[in-house]
Amino acid sequence: MARRGRLGCPMSSRPKEAWSSKLGVIMAVAGSAVGLGNFLRFPGLVAHPETGGGAFLIAYFVSLLLVGLPICWVEWTLGRAGGARGFNSSPGIFHAILGKPWGKYLGLLGFVVPVGVYFYYVVIESWCLGYAWHSFAGNLDLSGKEAFAGFFADFTGQGEDGHLLAGGGAVAFFAAVFILNFAIIYRGLSGGIELVCNWGMPLLIVLALVLLVRVLTLGTPDPAHPELSIWNGLGYMWDPKDVAAGLANPAVWLKAASQVFFTLSVGFGVIITYASYLRPKDDVVLSGLTSSAANEFCEVGLGGMITVPAAFAFLGASAVAGGTFALGFNVLPQVFALMPYGHVFGGCFFVLLFIAAITSSLSMLQPGIAFLEEGLGLDRRRSVALLGFVTAVGCTLVLWFSRDLKALGTVDFWIGDIGIFLQGTLLVYVFNLGLGTDRGWQEAHRGAEIGIPAVFRPIIRWVTPTYLTAILVMFLLTNLAGWNLSLVSPAFAPTGPVVDLIGSDTAPASPVARLTVLFLAAFIAFAALLIHLAGRRWSRVAR
Ligand code: PFF
Repeated sequence: MARRGRLGCPMSSRPKEAWSSKLGVIMAVAGSAVGLGNFLRFPGLVAHPETGGGAFLIAYFVSLLLVGLPICWVEWTLGRAGGARGFNSSPGIFHAILGKPWGKYLGLLGFVVPVGVYFYYVVIESWCLGYAWHSFAGNLDLSGKEAFAGFFADFTGQGEDGHLLAGGGAVAFFAAVFILNFAIIYRGLSGGIELVCNWGMPLLIVLALVLLVRVLTLGTPDPAHPELSIWNGLGYMWDPKDVAAGLANPAVWLKAASQVFFTLSVGFGVIITYASYLRPKDDVVLSGLTSSAANEFCEVGLGGMITVPAAFAFLGASAVAGGTFALGFNVLPQVFALMPYGHVFGGCFFVLLFIAAITSSLSMLQPGIAFLEEGLGLDRRRSVALLGFVTAVGCTLVLWFSRDLKALGTVDFWIGDIGIFLQGTLLVYVFNLGLGTDRGWQEAHRGAEIGIPAVFRPIIRWVTPTYLTAILVMFLLTNLAGWNLSLVSPAFAPTGPVVDLIGSDTAPASPVARLTVLFLAAFIAFAALLIHLAGRRWSRVAR
């Protein structure tokens, strides 16, 4: 039987969930933020020969101030306001705040994006567990670059589709990780997510510090190559390069803004859900700042100091520039194999990655659970079962079409890249136009432990939406329309993800990419239908 929530909004008969402590919610948001993005994606971006260096860092910190922090506060504020009206999911919160029949549909991405990112993020998470196991077991004591590349390709089934389900060992790790995520989610907010983050985050920091000390004391591992030292590795990682040229390159700004979104977990619809479980007078300003600061410490202070310098000291600059996955699962295992007790340090590193990843993947499931519970009135068992089914289908697609990781890359582009830019932009507009900047500002400060510096008010009102809209348009122009970023002689040629769908003179379309996009479209349509049904339920109960 449904009962009325505060302000006459519908809630099911389930007991209202809540965080058990102030620190708990900060740990949970920090747990969501600190993930593979901090330890693999960020170092790879900073060390990138063309778009990395000092220019990237400047663009990164500018984006952090103009987009990351503002949207973080916006999400915390909207979430708590929605929670006070009895809603925990983006569709529900937008429905309550906007009070219009179409409002709930604006929350679509807040359900679709986290669940869509989960389809592949949990697969990578299972690689981390698998690599931890193989590292401790000594199975990564290989020699030669090719052996490591071969191990990774084999483990992830990059050679052929269907390889994994034909009995590859990685399936067992995937099944274990998938079930573990849902078992934790089933235990609820404070008994599941909060508990795991309260233990996981300190453990993660301890492991990272141990690895940091190990890396910083490596000195010059091979005396025959004095130039390959840890200090030169740090110099390589943090080399400012040609800052002016970098800042003039729009690609640098795009990559920086997208990393800020990804790493802070803002613009996904996750923080809005987490904040909705706060009490109406719980602080959001300091909490948002603290969790973002914790993320930046882990990203710049730990993630930026461990992986790339170590790889440089053992293997040199050429080994470092290979992309996120290559760095994590190809280059670093080689580095650990060259270190004394490398299998222990390697195992610890992959356990660290696994903890970082699981506290993030849990946060991708909660928005979905919240929506199914309040939208369809399902109890926890049924909502876990339904979300489990949907994500199992999505993950199977990613796992099955493993050749060249095509399905994974396709979901990452359409949901992980485009989806977050859209959702992040939408959030600021809902805050400024739906709630109203002044009301929103007051709302943010209710119960706040500190004030947001006044300069952020015009930033949130004008700068963030403009900056974001500009970045979004530029992103679509370069990645969808294929603009070469030149104003002098602009050219438009379809990019990889688009060629995959429509084909080109030199490359045929990819049936796997097409199927993946079709599946995503069906998933989005299914989500829209559920939101429609939820709306009918909400207006019925409110009457
Ligand atoms: N912030 C996470 C990371 O840096 O790895 C990624 C992430 C978490 C993305 C939660 C999306 C999300 F909903």
